[in-house]
Amino acid sequence: MPVDCQHIGVRIKAWASVLVSVLKRIEGVESAYQSSRVTLNTYLSGIQSSGLSHLGNWFGAMRPHIQLQELEGEHFYFIADYHALTTSRDPAVLKNNVRELAVAYLAMGLDPERVTFWRQSDVPQVTEIAWMLSCVTGMGLLERAHSFKDKVAQGVKPNVGLFTYPALMAADILAFDPTHVPVGADQKQHVEMTQDMATSFNAAFGAEVFQRPEPLIESDERLAKVVGTDGQKMSKSYGNTIWLFETGKKLKKAVNQITTDSRPPEEPKDPKGVLLFRFLELFLPAEELEGWEARVLEGGVDAPGYGHLKARLIEQIEETFREGRERRMEFLNDPAEVDRILVRGAERARERAIAVRDRALKACGLR
Ligand code: TYM
Repeated sequence: MPVDCQHIGVRIKAWASVLVSVLKRIEGVESAYQSSRVTLNTYLSGIQSSGLSHLGNWFGAMRPHIQLQELEGEHFYFIADYHALTTSRDPAVLKNNVRELAVAYLAMGLDPERVTFWRQSDVPQVTEIAWMLSCVTGMGLLERAHSFKDKVAQGVKPNVGLFTYPALMAADILAFDPTHVPVGADQKQHVEMTQDMATSFNAAFGAEVFQRPEPLIESDERLAKVVGTDGQKMSKSYGNTIWLFETGKKLKKAVNQITTDSRPPEEPKDPKGVLLFRFLELFLPAEELEGWEARVLEGGVDAPGYGHLKARLIEQIEETFREGRERRMEFLNDPAEVDRILVRGAERARERAIAVRDRALKACGLR
């Protein structure tokens, strides 16, 4: 019996140290972990249902979200379908994207027992809070939003929703009093704008209505900002994505889009200058990766060509998401279960958002 206890103790200790080392990779979480011993942290984040989730969403957001659910505290994740409406014009596609995103999260391990998981439009209180925040937000703040300027630079004709998007995002966040918002690097500015809006509202009405949350971003830049097949940030709006569950010929086609040059395999190359390695780094074990890098750096008859490296990447992507793909099919075949999870999550989320909305209404004199 004493031997068994010791064995269990060692296993618990080993498990805890693995967990802490994973979480330490996420900027700020070390202190979050430490402070969680005093007060419980609340983690909240969202993903737009504007297309299928890609490798950037996975490494920058979904994977950390799923890892964080292991921590003590509260966990809130949602599907930002109102945000998707700033660009979506096809109802059937939007509906399908919402379902696929819900299924992707669940298939990859999000646990609806530990996480409140819902669809944004099922919690209309966020749009009420967004309006109240808009009324204390200067145009100048919104005009400085990188993502808005970026969309305009891409030639998107901006609608008012796209412009006020950060106020809706701030409401999504502030409606739940989170302490931490785990996001990819591209969303840092939006979380900082959220902090500004919380402060402006509290100052305007002389009340502590909203709590300022902190962004939580992977400290490894390669994960915080995953590159796309053209070398820019991977993004649905740049058309340079690889879908998480892609497989077979379609995956091959997507990987073939990764930009390469015409240098022959024998020519020695610095792997840092080869875009394909930015992808291999995400998937291969360190030792194997070093082996490929050394061979490419050396060149000569034994050096692998780009085709060879792409084939290895395809194999590893398929392997990494194999179980997830199987579970995706199970969830797609059981839409009632997915709906049940989202409905239950929305009920819990609404309860929380109603309390915060009421606080805000009262503070500004609307109640
Ligand atoms: P969205 O839908 O563009 O992206 C969802 C999450 O994925 C991260 N991400 C990436 N991470 C690393 N590398 C990439 N190439 C990459 N592309 C995307 C994003 O940083 C994000 O964490 N406005 C948000 C959605 C949102 C939200 C919120 C997020 C709405 N309300 C409240 C947090 C809290 C967006 O468009 O993310």
